[in-house]
Amino acid sequence: MIAMLALVAACNNSSSNDSTTDTSASSSASDPSSNPDYSKGIKLVTTNDCLGCHKIDEKLTGPAYQDVANKYKNTDENVKMLAGKIIAGGSGNWGTVPMTPHPALAEGDAEQMVKYILLLRTNK
Ligand code: HEC
Repeated sequence: MIAMLALVAACNNSSSNDSTTDTSASSSASDPSSNPDYSKGIKLVTTNDCLGCHKIDEKLTGPAYQDVANKYKNTDENVKMLAGKIIAGGSGNWGTVPMTPHPALAEGDAEQMVKYILLLRTNK
């Protein structure tokens, strides 16, 4: 929990100098939707084809995003690893159906989407 707060504070510091930094850092610990990574990531997920195969809380062609978030810890390593799979495609972790590759996606955008997905963890 302390590490989470530190991470959020560090993000805010590097991205902006607005005066709401303190309040947003403390509220995002309990409410993920107030985390800037959440709103940026959800925008990218909804403007790409992701939701054709993924739902937040139910398996579709791909696993529910909540299940993905419960499986992987929200670490830099996992964000990079999962972003790589979104771009290159992946299979074998959730079943036999592969995820199509997304070669046109920028790495930063893919990472931003993963950061949003990993905020959906329900196993605290
Ligand atoms: C054609 C259907 C399809 C589309 C479109 C799709 N996915 Fe997937 N996704 C899958 C399937 C199937 C899996 C499970 C693959 C596996 O078993 O490793 C998956 C797995 C994942 C995983 C977990 C990967 C792992 O190794 O555990 C993430 C994260 C993910 N998708 C994010 C996204 C995002 C973000 C987008 C939009 C850019 C997207 N997906 C678009 C079908 C899709």
